[in-house]
Amino acid sequence: MKRFKRFSCALAACVMLLSLCLPASAANKVPAPAEWAANWAEISSSEGRMSITPGADETQMQFSWITYLSDSEEFIYGREPNLSDGVAAEVKTVKNTSLLMFVNRVLLTGLEPGRYYYTYTSSGKNQGIAYFDVQDASDGFSVMFCADPQLGRSGSDSEEAIIDDCYGWDRTLKASYAKAPDLSFVMVAGDQVNLAYSNEQYNAYLYPSLMSNLPVATAVGNHDFYYYLYASHFYNPNVREVEPLSMGGSGYYYSYGNALFIVLNSNNYLAEDHESLISEAINAYPQAKWRVVMLHNSVYCAGNDSMEMPVVGGELPMIGRAMLTPIFDKYDIDLALSGHYHIYSRSVPLTNGVEKSDGVVYLAASSASGSNYYAADAEKIPEFVDFYQNCSEPTYSILDIDDESIEIRSYGTDTGELFDTCLIEKAAAPGDAPSYIPSAYYAKIVEIVKMVLNILYTKIPFDFKIFM
Ligand SMILES: [Fe+2]
Ligand SMILES: [Fe+2]
Repeated sequence: MKRFKRFSCALAACVMLLSLCLPASAANKVPAPAEWAANWAEISSSEGRMSITPGADETQMQFSWITYLSDSEEFIYGREPNLSDGVAAEVKTVKNTSLLMFVNRVLLTGLEPGRYYYTYTSSGKNQGIAYFDVQDASDGFSVMFCADPQLGRSGSDSEEAIIDDCYGWDRTLKASYAKAPDLSFVMVAGDQVNLAYSNEQYNAYLYPSLMSNLPVATAVGNHDFYYYLYASHFYNPNVREVEPLSMGGSGYYYSYGNALFIVLNSNNYLAEDHESLISEAINAYPQAKWRVVMLHNSVYCAGNDSMEMPVVGGELPMIGRAMLTPIFDKYDIDLALSGHYHIYSRSVPLTNGVEKSDGVVYLAASSASGSNYYAADAEKIPEFVDFYQNCSEPTYSILDIDDESIEIRSYGTDTGELFDTCLIEKAAAPGDAPSYIPSAYYAKIVEIVKMVLNILYTKIPFDFKIFM
């Protein structure tokens, strides 16, 4: 069954935004105020820093925190603000012998819509009570998408740079939450930090208060993948364990409402690994109305063909285009989310690199913290780019997903300006099966239909056959 999408988009405040296009730099970053900067000891500390990720579906959520002094931690959760109804969840502790740390993990299942409260111990110390919300996704839901907070990038990984980038990351989280307080979760398309081996940077990434309240699904960036900290901090669902030699974690997938989210490790050059993961995810959730992939490197974006010098790892997208486009087309992916170039860019819907109304829309985010920006050359923007902007402030996008459409609204963190909107619609009725049917099943169905038609044909009077 072929699905049809109608693609439409509108550009808001385009003329004004063109005036904001500036050369690549971090010169436009907003320095952290003195009272924020004074918190360096707390910002960089690993003490009790919680990381929440979406679970395998909307009834699950996963928690992870690192400790050094104890492998016996507790996690309590309940509905009452004072946790008078609190129950203990099982804490599974994994010893990371390479980093001499304990990775503590909790999987909550059977969650229902509404607010929950939780607390936990870190190296035996009681932490404060925090909350998280489980949204009702039955009539649609909203997520925030962004990329490349890359804490430390704005100034050679100095203390000041991490503080400023942390402040920018906090502003983007707060701005998006203010715009959409019913967010189900956040998606970050990689480069959480600038140095994969800097736990100070990861601790600062997890420092903003909303990180204790919101699940965050991350992709592995080229600044994350070469060390153990990414996989230690982020407890992702349905992780593809078979990816070879990946210290920084692997691809994974999860279902939420009517959508299937598949996160690829684009540092992995093996196309068969990505196809296998996508196929596994679709077979696990065949009824999902929407298929969204997220990966760090952008397959199609304004930066691909228009930058004079490739960003570190910049050659990867060109390989990725040949490697991933056929897979995304084959499995009827609706939307591909990415980052890496620190340029905001949205493609027309593409099939095999050619505009087609039911193709894949490729959305690439700029930096969510403002840690630095690159610039595309306006005279070399590829034709597949429908809208782009070289950014001078952090940006984020809100995705509203329901049975009829995915609506994308993209904002500047500091101006609050809505600078791009896009609507991806699908005409098929809710609950329609996706076009992907395993070939063995398909052959069997064809065989049965042929057999039934043959029987009918032999039993029907001759005069009636001419109308068949
Ligand atoms: Fe980056
Ligand atoms: Fe990157």
